[in-house]
Amino acid sequence: MNGSAAMKNLMQTIGGGLLLASVFALHAEAPQADATTRSQEPNTLLPAGVQRYAPSPLPDRIVALPAQDGARGFSVSWRTNTAVREPLLEISPASDSPDAWAEHGAPRQLRASTHELLAGNGLAHHHQVRVDGLEPGRLYAWRVQGDRSWSPWRQLRTAAAPGTPLEFVYLGDTQNKNASLGTRVAYEAVRFAPDADLVLFAGDLVSEAVDDDEWGEWFDATAPLARMLFAPAAGNHEFYKEHEDTEQERRVLGPQWWSHFALPGNGAPGVEASSYWFDWQGVRFAVVDGTSALDLGAAPAQARWLDQVLADNPQRWSIVLLHQPVYSPRAGRDNRLLREHLQPVLERHIVDLVLQGHDHTYGRRGGDDPQRATPQYIVSVAGAKQYRLSDQARRSMAPVGEDTQLFQVIRIEGDVLSYRAHTVTGQLYDAFELRRDGAAGTTLHEQPEGRIAPRDCGREATLGGRRDRCWE
Ligand SMILES: [Fe+2]
Repeated sequence: MNGSAAMKNLMQTIGGGLLLASVFALHAEAPQADATTRSQEPNTLLPAGVQRYAPSPLPDRIVALPAQDGARGFSVSWRTNTAVREPLLEISPASDSPDAWAEHGAPRQLRASTHELLAGNGLAHHHQVRVDGLEPGRLYAWRVQGDRSWSPWRQLRTAAAPGTPLEFVYLGDTQNKNASLGTRVAYEAVRFAPDADLVLFAGDLVSEAVDDDEWGEWFDATAPLARMLFAPAAGNHEFYKEHEDTEQERRVLGPQWWSHFALPGNGAPGVEASSYWFDWQGVRFAVVDGTSALDLGAAPAQARWLDQVLADNPQRWSIVLLHQPVYSPRAGRDNRLLREHLQPVLERHIVDLVLQGHDHTYGRRGGDDPQRATPQYIVSVAGAKQYRLSDQARRSMAPVGEDTQLFQVIRIEGDVLSYRAHTVTGQLYDAFELRRDGAAGTTLHEQPEGRIAPRDCGREATLGGRRDRCWE
């Protein structure tokens, strides 16, 4: 076939495609869906037999976490196929010109360490590099290397000096149907937090720790947030069960967790892969691994570590992120070991916020001392899975919520911390301020204006027939 014949052929194919498209458009009205035939949605959008997330020469799953001093550095991890070994990261101060080289000189190059991971989408190489020596509050452009290829340039801002106004996002469990129903949370959160440089994830990012398609969808769903640094907590679903149903059964942190997230490396002894802390613009953030505390005997070690991290805190605010709640809003749950070991530390150091997930509901309360405003203990959920509140939670927490996907935007400016929880459609669900009030210490100021009424689950059972849950 000569060139013009091939072009004619192509035009006919395109023409045919357009014609078909318009025919479909004319008949777009489909019969009304029948509620009686509804079935539970699968956890990923992938049809059986479709492989979408195989590692390739191009870098993907690129994610940056803050260094211990968020003003000075961050760490990056990414994935490629096995052709790539010890690739480079290039970084430069961001420039208005596409030619950053002319303004700032050659980009700095850092070589990553590489390890191999065999997962459901085949053998991959995961790469990690720590970037240090950066300037506070500066916008940097960086990219990572693949096989004969580079990622797009990305931009991240390091933490500014303590006292500079700060905005960040906090998300409860994403966990299920990340692409289908988690994506919209990420888009809406970005709309409400245009200045956020940081996003906290309270764990259970995926449902099956080692399901590589779920991880692929999680990275797709969180892509709108990728201009921020990520600070994830490990949830119980980031662990898998080794030797299941035998006497040797135990929980093991899934390899995708430590392959995808290059933590600062300052965690509790024995829990280095899933606990860490960092300072960001006047806040000390500490991330605790609740699963290791509850199921693997690591509550005392993490309590001692957290005590030290908070005792040495020169920052004005402190926030703790962990997956399992200290006060559980879901019926039938009680994380006694967290209250026994960790809560005394949280209360002794008067942590401002304890941000949690796991219970697939919303609930907020103070500690056991009604004279003190803080810590404020919060449980939220970003993803599709929804549980039911206990009567105890309805008595002791306010506001509470069921059957609602949420995101939270927190701003700190001077002596005021402002917290706002929004539903995924943008409605205000909860709002309060913490104020440093001189001799009065920290005071709590509820902001009921504009909040919608607390939401309850309106269905008897899930599509799968479970009455103890609201949606799954
Ligand atoms: Fe969980």
